[in-house]
Amino acid sequence: MTKEPKRYLITSALPYANGPIHIGHIAGAYLPADIYVRYLRLLKKDVAFICGSDEHGAAITLRAKKEGQTPRQIVDHYHQLMGDAFKNFGISFDEYHRTSSPEHKEMSQDIFKKLLEKGSFEVETSQQYYDEEQKQFLADRYIMGTCPNCSNEKAYGDQCEKCGTALSPLDLINPHSTISGNKPVLKETSHWYLPMAHHEKWIGQFIKEGILDGQQHHDPKAWKAHVVGQCMSWVDGGLHSRAMTRDLDWGVPVPLENAEGKVLYVWLDAPIGYITNTKVWADKNGKNWEDYWKSDDSQLIHFIGKDNIVFHCIIFPIILKEHGEFNLPINVPANEFMNLEGDKISTSRNWAVWLHEYLQEMPNKQDEMRYVLCSIMPEQKDSEFTWTDFKDRVNNELADILGNFINRVFVLTHKYYNGVLPARERVQDEDLQLQKDSIATLQKIGEKLEQFRFREGLMEAMNIARLGNKYLTETEPWKLIKTQPDRTATILHECLQLVARLSIALEPFIPYTAEKIRQGLNFSFNHWKDGLQEELLKTEHSIGQLPILFEKITDEVVAFQVAKLEASKSTAVASNVNPIKENIAFEDFQKMDIRIATILEAERIPKTKKLLKLKVDTGADIRTVVSGIAESYNPEDAVGKTVIMLANLAPREIKGVESQGMILMAENEKGELSFLTPDRAMNPGNEVK
Ligand code: MF3
Ligand code: ZN
Repeated sequence: MTKEPKRYLITSALPYANGPIHIGHIAGAYLPADIYVRYLRLLKKDVAFICGSDEHGAAITLRAKKEGQTPRQIVDHYHQLMGDAFKNFGISFDEYHRTSSPEHKEMSQDIFKKLLEKGSFEVETSQQYYDEEQKQFLADRYIMGTCPNCSNEKAYGDQCEKCGTALSPLDLINPHSTISGNKPVLKETSHWYLPMAHHEKWIGQFIKEGILDGQQHHDPKAWKAHVVGQCMSWVDGGLHSRAMTRDLDWGVPVPLENAEGKVLYVWLDAPIGYITNTKVWADKNGKNWEDYWKSDDSQLIHFIGKDNIVFHCIIFPIILKEHGEFNLPINVPANEFMNLEGDKISTSRNWAVWLHEYLQEMPNKQDEMRYVLCSIMPEQKDSEFTWTDFKDRVNNELADILGNFINRVFVLTHKYYNGVLPARERVQDEDLQLQKDSIATLQKIGEKLEQFRFREGLMEAMNIARLGNKYLTETEPWKLIKTQPDRTATILHECLQLVARLSIALEPFIPYTAEKIRQGLNFSFNHWKDGLQEELLKTEHSIGQLPILFEKITDEVVAFQVAKLEASKSTAVASNVNPIKENIAFEDFQKMDIRIATILEAERIPKTKKLLKLKVDTGADIRTVVSGIAESYNPEDAVGKTVIMLANLAPREIKGVESQGMILMAENEKGELSFLTPDRAMNPGNEVK
């Protein structure tokens, strides 16, 4: 544990290929990993940075159904979209592969078989909902019904999105299959379970004390408190068996006879993707993947968001240890959540800043977003992104502190010295101090990054620019150029060293800008530690022109982005629309007699909340209709309305009143009802067709 590892294996959570990447994902699991990896590479460490798309599971088949596509089409689309966005944003994965690949099928089946041989599973039989018409077991998300907690009629088998309660399909009242609409039946099915309780003891020790197989594996104090806390509350609460397989037709098939229709469930699928993708990368690059996963001089670190903590600190380690050959993570520096403009980021509600859209709308501003997301990274607690804050940080920090310092140094060097680095001629204490302080700051950045304190690391990097600004303001070289030219030369000499040091310090965080600075300076470096030298640029070195580093963000940009978010609220509603029902024949439609009618009288039906008793003129007769609209219309507001009515619906008795037909209403997401009133004058009895 204490010895320097020879290799690092760094992973970022495999994102689901059922939607694009948003900035919450980036701040959680991708940017911190990328900063860390870039730093390790600058230290010339042997690193594999591995990610890929998580392409299986019911979320993907469901999305495919909704959009009338195949799961393959969905994952192909999002794999490409996410891969491109990551790349464009400078997330420097060594490999971004996919779990629907043949390589992954082989790897995950091998691991399943090995665990099976070792007797790691228990087969359990249980009753699960089955759609008889579709001849398939229903994943939790394929079942909808009424929430036992809040009576929301659209709760899913795993969760009610209205009240947030976690559910199991058996909790739902009136369950129905979202594929066929039918009431599902309970049917017996067998699955392979991992009896996690068997592992409670060692995993608890692993998390709490960092001990594995009786040896110190890692320093538990190096793990984030919220990570250890969440894991221990799980372990202390008792670990339950988890199904490692599922009945689904999209996934890695269980590699056994008599297991048709069964696939490996996410636990034995997605994280194995880390292994598969390491192998894919290694094979392409003449490396041995096993060096990274199995040798004791390699270190594994998982970067994830907090929703994946138990997965990566308990479930996956149990799988790896059971298998017997793999390393367990040395750390899992999970982040908490980042909210957006006062609300939780949500893919299904479309409340998000999508990375690919940002890159399109604000081209060449990767570093602005990288900077802001790192500044507010939810390392220890939830944080919040707002566009106003984005603007403020870019304008007041990147432009006014960093950009301004570097720009002043370039301008003065060109003005006084034709862009040639002047010699140090009369060195004073303040000059030496500047070098010392900025070198110490660079060192501090490294320490912060090694502790996964990315926000503080970035702040220290900016402190180098702050030191430079302060020094310039205090020494005022532009005032000395006439009277003490040797001082001006020395001051600019020091400042240029600082700019070069900054181009190293910023490299992990904002690599595009760091590169621009080096191009301007005609400077290159090899190792992070180069920055610890005093003289990064030699006297007589010629610098070039500085490209524009940061443009200010305008209020219009902020307004545009905020308006776009607000507008997305209504599209989110559209994406929550119920799927269109199965087709019916034209003859079926013609059976309905739909008419214009006028409401003549209306009164509440006593002891009911929703019902009004209406007297309606159908043109052909006057009838009584019971209508469940009382929460949307008062009786007096209903009277006189011209409405549309299904006139030949068989009479039904409702609360002791015979209802002779049905008034057609539109209903919005909030459950508000609206009469459908014709657009031009119509008379009772006019037909609707
Ligand atoms: N795709 C899942 C998620 O985004 C799981 C990612 S972590 C992995 O939450 F280990 F499974 F890849
Ligand atoms: Zn509910």
